[in-house]
Amino acid sequence: MSTPKKLFIKTYGCQMNVYDSERMGEALAGEGYVATDRAEHADLILLNTCHIREKAAEKVYSELGRFRPLKEANPNLKIGVAGCVAQAEGAEIIARQPMVDLVVGPQSYHRLPELEAKAQRGEKALDTDFPEEDKFEHLAKRPKAGRGPTAFLTVQEGCDKFCAFCVVPYTRGAEVSRPADRVVSEARDLVERGVREITLLGQNVNAYHGHDGGLAGLIHALADIDELKRIRFTTSHPNDMDDALIAAHGEVDKLMPYLHLPVQSGSDRILKAMNRKHTAEEYLRVLERIRAARPDILISGDFIVGFPGETDADFEDTMSLVGEVGYGQAYSFKYSSRPGTPAAERDEVAEDVKDARLQCLQALLGQQQRATQDAMVGRDVRVLFEKPGRLDGQMGGKSEYLHAVHVMGEGIQPGDLRDVRITETSSNSLAGELLSAG
Ligand code: 5AD
Ligand code: SF4
Repeated sequence: MSTPKKLFIKTYGCQMNVYDSERMGEALAGEGYVATDRAEHADLILLNTCHIREKAAEKVYSELGRFRPLKEANPNLKIGVAGCVAQAEGAEIIARQPMVDLVVGPQSYHRLPELEAKAQRGEKALDTDFPEEDKFEHLAKRPKAGRGPTAFLTVQEGCDKFCAFCVVPYTRGAEVSRPADRVVSEARDLVERGVREITLLGQNVNAYHGHDGGLAGLIHALADIDELKRIRFTTSHPNDMDDALIAAHGEVDKLMPYLHLPVQSGSDRILKAMNRKHTAEEYLRVLERIRAARPDILISGDFIVGFPGETDADFEDTMSLVGEVGYGQAYSFKYSSRPGTPAAERDEVAEDVKDARLQCLQALLGQQQRATQDAMVGRDVRVLFEKPGRLDGQMGGKSEYLHAVHVMGEGIQPGDLRDVRITETSSNSLAGELLSAG
């Protein structure tokens, strides 16, 4: 028997890339590849790249440079670039870095076996089309091997919103939803393999239209799968939080009380310049309705500081909005100009001003995040256990609110759901004691 070829995938960026990397690994398993976590053992290295912020392409080129000695030591080694930088740069990658054998955009992963074969023949393989066919339908059926209790499942890709700062509509293309019956059947497969929690992914997941009832309809359909215990979804746009989806947070026990709903800015002037198509007040009203449906929901968000034209007063509006919402979790970034986006044409805010604003915002968000976590002490939460902790006999998992929780407890298996009383909080996790037997 020939030894299997080894595949090393390095994933950057969002959870959608994590899902894609998994599917690429599965597509190449059909070609005899097994995964390795050591680049130096690989026959094929794939970088699954992200283009959302700063100097993404430069980082990819420097990472590629680091693989040069491996390529020199093993002339049979093939190197590929996938993901959004591949989509944005295309053939330029091979022109600038001739040791790259393969470039594949996010919509073409089902063509990887052909591209890999081409690379093996010593030809350069490039595919950055937005093909008519649905890549998911052409990807190999997911293997039956067992896996951990949590999984991502991409249900929607692309974005039609065109926020003025964002490359996604260009790198991932127009919004496309996968039909609900196929999503449900992939979810059933995952559950058979041991998955208990599924996070539905999409760049604009709540604009999902693969089910007559939208994302809420899909969530209701998935909730009927007995052994699926938890459902989450990310990322959403405030304008697509429709009545049914808001109501689902009160109706579906399996839908977890955690919502990532980016607002980006608290200033109406900047929201308009960003082409977000909603005001700060409209965002707050959406949250009010979600909290009415599910009072304990933990709200998470994304923010950009230093968008072109942002004044001190605009930034103060962002700080007030954050004060009003009380975020349990948040991600904040300095605006970074992306070539090809409308905002790239505009005058930039000075770097030191961006730095100062980011620090100020992160201090407030950090405080809110810690307060939310600290408030869990003394409360009982349900934990889905995932894997052993660092200490002997310790198990770790996540609460409904996505907080990491550790307990000491014999006999807990990955996939077990148990009630835990939280006793302690530390910088990025909670500790507690088991309450229930199972
Ligand atoms: N600059 C800074 N942050 C950005 N994001 C998207 N594009 C940019 C950009 N050009 C942030 C937004 C988005 C998150 C995924 O990344 O906050 O919600
Ligand atoms: Fe980008 Fe999200 Fe705006 Fe779409 S909704 S353009 S993915 S920030």
